[in-house]
Amino acid sequence: MSIVIVYESMFGNTRQVAAAIAEGLTPYGPATVANVNDASAKDAAESASLLLVGGPTHVHGMSRQASRDEARNWANDPARRLSLEPLAPGTGVREWIDGLDRVPALFAAFDTRADIARILSGAASGRIEHELKARGSHAVLPAASFLVSKDTVLEDGELDRARDWAASVGKAAAIPIAT
Ligand SMILES: Cc1cc2nc3c(=O)[nH]c(=O)nc-3n(C[C@H](O)[C@H](O)[C@H](O)COP(=O)(O)O)c2cc1C
Repeated sequence: MSIVIVYESMFGNTRQVAAAIAEGLTPYGPATVANVNDASAKDAAESASLLLVGGPTHVHGMSRQASRDEARNWANDPARRLSLEPLAPGTGVREWIDGLDRVPALFAAFDTRADIARILSGAASGRIEHELKARGSHAVLPAASFLVSKDTVLEDGELDRARDWAASVGKAAAIPIAT
C-alpha cells in the first residue's frame, strides 16, 4: 500500500498540514509528501494506492493563476508579514489534477481556509473531492478543512487535528497497521 500526499501552499500553512498528515499516517506505512510543483508528484500519485490532495482555499475554491498572483501580492506587502513558499510559483492543485493520466482508487481531500463560517469561506477540499470523484476515485472519508487566523497563521490545535484526521483516513482505507 503506497500512500502519497500532494499539496499546494503559498505561505506554508498547507505544507505544514501535509507534514502533520504524513505523521498521522505513520502507523499505516510511510507516506510520500510532494508539492504540486515537484516533478515527482505526478508519477508518485498515479501509482499510489491512497492519494491525499490538499491546497489553500482561494476565492471559495481551488486556487487559480489570478489568485496565486494575488497571494504573491500579499507576500510583497510588508504589513502582512507573509513569505512566499519557494515552490509556490507555478501550478496549483486544480491544474495538477487536470494533468493526471490516472487517479488512484482511493483518495482523501483537505484544505486550509479562513477561520470563519464555512458558508462564507468556501473550501478548496470540496472542489478537490468533486474533481477526483468525477475521475472515478473514491473518498475514504469526507474532506477536511484546517483553519488559519486572519493573519494567515494556523490556529492552535490544527496540526493535532490534521494528525488525528490522517489516522482516521488510514483506518478508513483499511490499511493493515505496519508491525
Ligand atoms: C487570493 C486569496 C484568496 C483567498 N480566498 C479565500 C476564501 O475565499 N476563503 C477562505 O477561507 N480563505 C481564503 N483565502 C485565505 C487562504 O485560504 C489562506 O491564505 C490559506 O489557507 C493559507 O494557506 P497556505 O499558507 O498554504 O497558502 C484567500 C487567500 C488568498 C491569497
